Amino acid sequence: MSKVLIKNLNKYLGQEVTVEGWLYNLRSSGKIAFLIVRDGSGLMQGVTVKKDVGEELFAEARKLTQESAVKLTGIVHEESRSVGGYEMQVTELETVSIAQEYPITHKEHGVEFLAERRHLWIRSPKQVAILRVRSEIEHAIRDFFYEREFVLADSPIITPAACEGTTTLFELDYHGEKGFLSQSGQLYNEATAMALGRIYCFGPTFRAEKSKTRRHLMEFWMVEAEMAYFDMDANIQLQEEMIYYVIQRILKRCSNELQTLERDITKLANIKLPFPRISYTEAVEILNQNGENFPWGEDFGAPHETIISNHFNAPVFVHRYPTEIKAFYMKPDPENPKVVLGADLLAPEGYGEIIGGGQRIDSLELLEERIQEHKLPKEAFEWYLDLRRYGSVPHAGFGLGIERTVAWLCGLDHVRETIPFPRLLHKMYP
Ligand code: 4AD
Ligand code: MG
Repeated sequence: MSKVLIKNLNKYLGQEVTVEGWLYNLRSSGKIAFLIVRDGSGLMQGVTVKKDVGEELFAEARKLTQESAVKLTGIVHEESRSVGGYEMQVTELETVSIAQEYPITHKEHGVEFLAERRHLWIRSPKQVAILRVRSEIEHAIRDFFYEREFVLADSPIITPAACEGTTTLFELDYHGEKGFLSQSGQLYNEATAMALGRIYCFGPTFRAEKSKTRRHLMEFWMVEAEMAYFDMDANIQLQEEMIYYVIQRILKRCSNELQTLERDITKLANIKLPFPRISYTEAVEILNQNGENFPWGEDFGAPHETIISNHFNAPVFVHRYPTEIKAFYMKPDPENPKVVLGADLLAPEGYGEIIGGGQRIDSLELLEERIQEHKLPKEAFEWYLDLRRYGSVPHAGFGLGIERTVAWLCGLDHVRETIPFPRLLHKMYP
């Protein structure tokens, strides 16, 4: 008997197959039981008729509680009125385990209640859809880089120094030495790019953010690319091609999931290349036209990013931010050193910054100056300075936050649903 995934039932019309899953819902009368089963790939209705399966099996079916583990065998039919469009005429049923009374019922539950039970909540159809889209996005990104001959070079998680400012570091005791969880793989990416040319890393990053917002996690996944001999414009072009590639891929491969999530896919399908590009200074003008009275030199908050992206109704690159508000490694614009050759990508529909990136300082002297200005411990950065001592070249890179990207593409209110087990302020259970 072939074991099949519910999502592939359409390939087995008229055949007898087995589905291994869990009971999602049960309706029954004295003669017929409708078992809705989930297997992680979809939902299927198993129609169990007493006179076909016999008294004993029928009684067993009716005893199944929500989330009991069960294997159903039967013939696949097309049935447009049934969940998923297919249904199984059950011939055999095997109870693997009977579940105790399941806490997450089919009525509405509050987010606090669900978050405490995240290990079970992820079984719900909406959460399954999100996690499947996340997986597809990650695969698409890897394929994108693979097709362009980038090398995957993993960066370390335990690091001796800060990359993105000292205020959000998670400290740890490294056998008596002070260490930190990585905020970004970028500095190591710069080293591997000088070794391998074009590289990316993909892994968890950590920030002890003190803020409780819908966009911040303490632990999030970032894909970070770094390219030797790339300038800011080449960097931006690569990013928009990657985003476009990912969108086409999920439109093609995740249509069922996006439907479950009630995502308005026209918003994604309408996205075209190239994305608009504006300078920080132009962005400030847009804010002021919208009555914001925004002073040049300050960093944008979430509401500002929303105004800017709504103005374009598209993903938009904002480049040349004030040097003062950006990281120590950003290369100043040779034509105006008050701004840097960095660019952020703001997602549409108010999802805010999903990519941060830019061209890096390639001069040893300037980088030494910046490390001092930012009061960073020079000893910890000696290796990084070596990259400018030995064969320094113009180079650029970026980091894309996976959770914010998933939130945008799935149309979610909060990043907490974009990762199996979110790490939020004061919350690490389960
Ligand atoms: O803009 P950020 O801080 O850039 C860097 O870390 C660079 N070193 C990346 C690079 O050039 N290699 O972070 C990059 C992205 C943000 O645009 C955002 O999408 C995401 O990471 N991000 C977060 N996502 C969830 N929770 C947080 N606390 C995040 N902080 C940043
Ligand atoms: Mg940023």
